[in-house]
Amino acid sequence: MRTHYCGQLTADMIGEEVALCGWVHRRRDHGGVIFIDLRDREGLAQVVYDPDRADSFAVAETLRNEFVIRITGRVRRRPEGTINPNLPTGEVEVLGHTLEILNKARTPPFQLDDENVQDDIRLRYRYVDLRRETMQDNIKLRSRVTRAIRDYLDGHGFLDIETPVLTRATPEGARDYLVPSRTQRGGFFALPQSPQLFKQLLMMSGMDRYYQIVRCFRDEDLRADRQPEFTQLDMEMSFVDEDDVTGLVEDMMRTVFRQVKGIELADPFPRMTYAEAMSRYGTDRPDLRNPLELVEVGDLMKEVEFKVFSGPANQAHGRVAALRLPGGNALTRKEIDDYTAYVGKYGARGLAYIKINDMEQGDAGLQSPILKFLPGETVQAVLQRTGAQTGDIVFFGADKARTVNDSLGALRTALAEDLGLLQGDWAPLWVVDFPLFEYNDAEQRWDSLHHPFTAPQVPGQDGDLHESLSRAYDLVLNGMELGGGSIRIHEPEMQLKVLDLLGIDEEQAREKFGFLIDALSYGCPPHGGIAFGLDRIVMIMAGAKGIRDVIAFPKTQTASCLLTSAPAGASPEQLRELGVKLVYNS
Ligand code: AMO
Ligand code: AMP
Repeated sequence: MRTHYCGQLTADMIGEEVALCGWVHRRRDHGGVIFIDLRDREGLAQVVYDPDRADSFAVAETLRNEFVIRITGRVRRRPEGTINPNLPTGEVEVLGHTLEILNKARTPPFQLDDENVQDDIRLRYRYVDLRRETMQDNIKLRSRVTRAIRDYLDGHGFLDIETPVLTRATPEGARDYLVPSRTQRGGFFALPQSPQLFKQLLMMSGMDRYYQIVRCFRDEDLRADRQPEFTQLDMEMSFVDEDDVTGLVEDMMRTVFRQVKGIELADPFPRMTYAEAMSRYGTDRPDLRNPLELVEVGDLMKEVEFKVFSGPANQAHGRVAALRLPGGNALTRKEIDDYTAYVGKYGARGLAYIKINDMEQGDAGLQSPILKFLPGETVQAVLQRTGAQTGDIVFFGADKARTVNDSLGALRTALAEDLGLLQGDWAPLWVVDFPLFEYNDAEQRWDSLHHPFTAPQVPGQDGDLHESLSRAYDLVLNGMELGGGSIRIHEPEMQLKVLDLLGIDEEQAREKFGFLIDALSYGCPPHGGIAFGLDRIVMIMAGAKGIRDVIAFPKTQTASCLLTSAPAGASPEQLRELGVKLVYNS
């Protein structure tokens, strides 16, 4: 039907006859001449109809936005003064000969160049939304990324192997999506939260190097970087240690970023322990472009009268930390109040601060609601430790360590965003030496920080595993967790022991994970791997605000699809066949 894409026309083609197909992006009538911007996947071409071709001209007059048409015509140079340097095809236009309407279109629900369309409208008419240039660019970028990944992994001996979607629960910490079985009444499949156990089994099968670009399903609270179904780049390797895995995948990341976007990432990626990340940034996924850091001051506060500080300073899981903002004494009272309210969302009960108006003047040069509670030498020690100078402000957080980390960590991010403090473009980071377990206060039990198949750092079976670090690693880029993985447990005894510590006794372990325990005892190589959030990789490369903008058909905040109206009810016959009865609990 066509000879070229609209976006492919160049000055080299002047004089050629072409046939183009696409959507009417815009029609302009100019004193007896009609201009059509014709759009397809590759761009825009300007087509001109003049009244000499009476038939075509008459059809052109009826065109409206988003009509689908086919045109033929001759490529010519645009007249002097009408060349559009902003358009790749802007030097030329097509003098239209024939014009055929392939399909009319209703008035679109929104203008394609409108940047402020409501999200639910965009999702409901996603096929129109996807016609927009940024969305087309994002989807193309995604395709280039997966292709670059596949090329790299293919070149490094990885086999692309599919794993089941109807399966058993794979514990990654979220709720499962369940699918009732018709043939096994009362039985349910779970959709995989990840292919974790299958990829480990593939190592036991001797596949040696596996990867898959695979859909995963997690019924959890959604955020800008989370979807209920999302795509992982999932990988596993045999006979490897941490350095083998991280070395290969960071080389892959550098290659993909270079090939797809011409971005050079650091070589090697820096590494930081979990403990250091929490201490300096209050988070296990710090954005290293942000120069602000938390500073420990608990040891200075143990004896002070100010209970807000001395309390947490003397508690086992308490923390008192300071955050210095250079130049921050220019913040107004209102701004400080706003930041106080902001950290309140993360559980902080206040936001103490000291403004340094003049370092030379000692106490008189400081301004703060807490000076009266603190001895002068304590204040001086804090200022010295944080490196405070005239013109700065120092904020404080005092509470349970988790609250201080969450609130000052969030404050650090907000300050950098509000004040434009980020330095550099790309800051990859490996976070390593995670604890194996974390204590779940609410449920009064131990949880895996990653998943229960992560190997502990201590060799052998003895010693207190609760306090052990794990052989896990997370890859962080600009403050976003792109991927996480670990060296796995490859011995059945250790696997049973870890499950036991998680409160899963041997009987339950055999019931839930018997196939894994068995497989571990039939010849299992040491192995490890990682999984990346593909949507997140593409999102960060595209500079998109959320992962929805890089997924063709994403779901809403409440995990529904507005386009197809899923989820939807099931008919009584279907429910009967499945042996499912609906009970609504209010
Ligand atoms: P993890 O649970 O860390 O590890 O997931 C790996 C990566 O997947 C991405 N991700 C998500 N992306 C979008 N929406 C979500 N709801 C979502 N949840 C996770 C993140 C994350 O870093 N089996 C292990 C990996 C392994 O040990 O090899 C796993 O799934 O970018
Ligand atoms: P108060 O004595 O409660 O008026 O608090 C004095 C100052 O300490 C105020 O600036 C509060 O915002 C701040 N503050 C109170 N509780 C905390 C806390 N847990 N962490 C940090 N600052 C706090």
